[in-house]
Amino acid sequence: MKILVSLLLSACVLASANAKGVDPTYLRCEYKVNPVTDQKSPRLSWELQSGENNQVQTAYQILVASSPENLTEAKADLWNTNKTTGRATYQIEYKGKPLSSRTICYWKVRSWDKNGVPGKWSEAALWEMGLLAKNEWKADWIGLDLDHLGKGKVYHLPPAPYLRKQVVIKKGLKKARLYVTALGLYEFQINGKKAGDAFLTPGWTDYDKRVYYQTYDVTSDLKPGENALASQLSYGWYAGYLGYSLLVQNPVVRAFYGKVPLLKAQLEVEYADGTKETFMTDQTWKASTGAILESDLLNGETYDARLEPTGWNKAGFNDSKWEKAQVFADKPERLIQVYPGPPVKVTLTLEVKTIADRPGGSYIFDMGQNFAGIVRIKVKGAAGDTIRLRFGEKLHPDGRLMTENLRMARATDTYILKGDPQGETWEPQFTFHGFQYVEVAGLGHKPGKDAILGLVIGSDTPKTGSFETDNAMVNQLYSNIDWTQRANYIDIPTDCPQRDERIGWTGDAQVYAKSATFNRDVASFFTKWVVDLNDAQRKDGSYPVYAPAPDLRKSDTFSPGWMEAGIICPYQIYRAYGDTRMISEGWPAMSRFMDFLEKRSKGGYVFKENAFADIDPKGGFGDWLSFGKKTPPDMLASFYYAYCADLMAEMAGAVNNQKDFQKYAQIGAKVRKAVLAHYSDASGKFKTDAKAYGNGAGYVDGALGFTGHTQTAYANAIYMKIIDKSQTKKSGDFLVALLKENGNKLGTGFLGAKPLLPALSATGNTDLAYRLFLSKEFPSWGFEVEQGSTTIWERWDSFTKEDGFKYNAAMNSFSHYAFGAVCEWMFGNAAGIQATQPGFATFDIKPEIAPDGMGKEGINHLKASLVTMNGKVVSEWERSNSGLNLKVTVPVNTVARIHIPSEKSQQILANRENISKSKSVKLIGTENGHTIVEAGSGSYEFVVK
Ligand code: BGC
Repeated sequence: MKILVSLLLSACVLASANAKGVDPTYLRCEYKVNPVTDQKSPRLSWELQSGENNQVQTAYQILVASSPENLTEAKADLWNTNKTTGRATYQIEYKGKPLSSRTICYWKVRSWDKNGVPGKWSEAALWEMGLLAKNEWKADWIGLDLDHLGKGKVYHLPPAPYLRKQVVIKKGLKKARLYVTALGLYEFQINGKKAGDAFLTPGWTDYDKRVYYQTYDVTSDLKPGENALASQLSYGWYAGYLGYSLLVQNPVVRAFYGKVPLLKAQLEVEYADGTKETFMTDQTWKASTGAILESDLLNGETYDARLEPTGWNKAGFNDSKWEKAQVFADKPERLIQVYPGPPVKVTLTLEVKTIADRPGGSYIFDMGQNFAGIVRIKVKGAAGDTIRLRFGEKLHPDGRLMTENLRMARATDTYILKGDPQGETWEPQFTFHGFQYVEVAGLGHKPGKDAILGLVIGSDTPKTGSFETDNAMVNQLYSNIDWTQRANYIDIPTDCPQRDERIGWTGDAQVYAKSATFNRDVASFFTKWVVDLNDAQRKDGSYPVYAPAPDLRKSDTFSPGWMEAGIICPYQIYRAYGDTRMISEGWPAMSRFMDFLEKRSKGGYVFKENAFADIDPKGGFGDWLSFGKKTPPDMLASFYYAYCADLMAEMAGAVNNQKDFQKYAQIGAKVRKAVLAHYSDASGKFKTDAKAYGNGAGYVDGALGFTGHTQTAYANAIYMKIIDKSQTKKSGDFLVALLKENGNKLGTGFLGAKPLLPALSATGNTDLAYRLFLSKEFPSWGFEVEQGSTTIWERWDSFTKEDGFKYNAAMNSFSHYAFGAVCEWMFGNAAGIQATQPGFATFDIKPEIAPDGMGKEGINHLKASLVTMNGKVVSEWERSNSGLNLKVTVPVNTVARIHIPSEKSQQILANRENISKSKSVKLIGTENGHTIVEAGSGSYEFVVK
């Protein structure tokens, strides 16, 4: 069964680059290849290829038709843009005939080049309209209320409902679509074959407000005659355990949205003769339970293969003993929409590295990599043999599985064999774990490595970034960052994938958002989560500490540094992908948040001590998990206020909202003035008097009071441009002095780590930024790598070879991406790839070269690349005895400003010619020890002697 995405041959197959002109490839709609969408004006994009340098698009023409036959200039019946002038290749809104539900729109595009010559038409691509109005859903919500079964049993982890229905397909088919959603999680099968390959569908939302559905092309899965429609449901985020609900709720509660998982499905067929028929979930469906005895995201799955009702998912099964499915009422206000994000999938498989014997006949399999996912087991044994799988990120020194940091998440899967002499293969369907090690008990014999296969699970965000150097530690660090991102971008951005938490903490998400855009295409991922964030906005206008925001714990309200995700995440998506729709759709919510800040500042435009004492005596989470001196949370809140006002002004400009542009520009200026007046002294130093900062009573791990004179304060002030330009250098000096005072070691936490290296670079302290980046001493990024990490840890010393796990296991995740936000500096500064216009329409290549003379501990060669909306950008530099080599690739339709690290243009060669005589690049001038050239598309090599 193919998910619709593969209906047409993928349009992203790169057409061979034309010798001349520009050719559109990689046609996408709403960031996806051949998707189903319910956007009334879906946005189209393409990438341009050319065999020539300096190429741009000067005009384009898009054709959209309701059939492949009509996809010609003469016949295009939905939209013909005709020749449209401009460079736009993305975020182009469909403006043709209004589209109705189910329409398949075929489209293609051609582009005119810089000489006004049109290129070839692209290959055809398509998108399909979903069900646009809620009343097109005729299907009922159905389920099986176990209480209703009357057995009076109270479940901690209830079994998964099975639902089925046999339908008759009367004749040959032209087209069949299956629309499915659930409150809870579902897997749907037709005649025993799973629909699509997505996992954890339909995803997590505020189910009272909206739920998403998936659409499957099942034309080839149905046959004339009897067909079986079958579905298993699980509790998932809707009805299962969530966050730390097992830990902090007393009595323990689950089911934050509802108790009974429900299915809604509609199979619409169109026969070859044009007649139509719809089959849907209703009271005629049958329900039962089967082999899935327990199924929970945090606790794991238990499957007794002996209880699988053989053939239940095929036609001909006798379900006369099954219950009648129950029909449940809908909430009229609940929206049912197309899932906008990238599907959660198995994105990779991992083979076992080693197996260790454990006492008592169990074995620990090492997968060699900490990741999020499940395992597939292959076993042989007698009926009733029980295999128990436990998961952990680390081992204790004596070889035991370390599970203490999972807290109350049981994270255990159990498989009970049916005794098939051919052997049995199994993987859980509705759970995932964060782990590197799997302890397997109950095998009864020594297993081979093929007994287990790791299935890596995550939102399927295309890999767009790469980062490589001649320094092994740095390469491992980059690998760790990307692995932590893929382990935590699972439908929503989570804090960690292993313990009883796994929720969308907004602080973690906002500090890491820009980094994420350098690794993977996260545009549609955030398109989904920003809706969750806006759905979770609190009545007072604040954004919560996590989204979606079920009622896990009364004290979870909002916090400075966390709530600003509501502004920062849309902004980063706008900058990376040129997305203005997220801005206009979110504007009312974002404006409400800005009003909330204004009200909170009591007209003063600065948050003074105790401004947030009502939510938390300490004023919020502050620079979470920092070392040493503690920065006042209210001071950081004030910085964020100014920063958010700036981002709002820029975003208002992007959507031509002049009024709000003025308004937020003025607020930004007011906040800056008030903040500096309150927090800094005449010399520009942030005040050190602990008494000036609230209760000074200490914070989280440290016994110290608050002080404004911290690494985190200056790093953020520089990064967010809080201080006047004329004072920036001085703030940099304070930052350098504070680092020196601290033995040149960082002391930053979640809010301070990200801006630290960018702030050093911005104030001319690149060498020190590199020394911190390359350090292997505690605390540092390199220290974690030296301690054997394969992911980014929650704490700088979550584990040390010397002291083991010295922290309270309750807060010690080995897969927490916040400190991975250094990725922003790696791409933006070390490789120097910086967008100067949204979507990298124009960009800078301004690499900062690592200090010389560090030998193997340093970097002499660095290569980074990023596939942007415009195509692939490459920045590579290498130091050799004869000088410095810089290689740059500029995609078609873009212009780069390349900053070559030497002022002496006579010593620079561009593509082997002296740069001042170069015909391929344009010399602009010199600045801060660099020669700047402008270059259009093509590949360039600069040699600095
Ligand atoms: C989470 C964090 C989160 C924090 C709030 C932790 O338990 O894992 O990453 O941001 O709480 O301070």
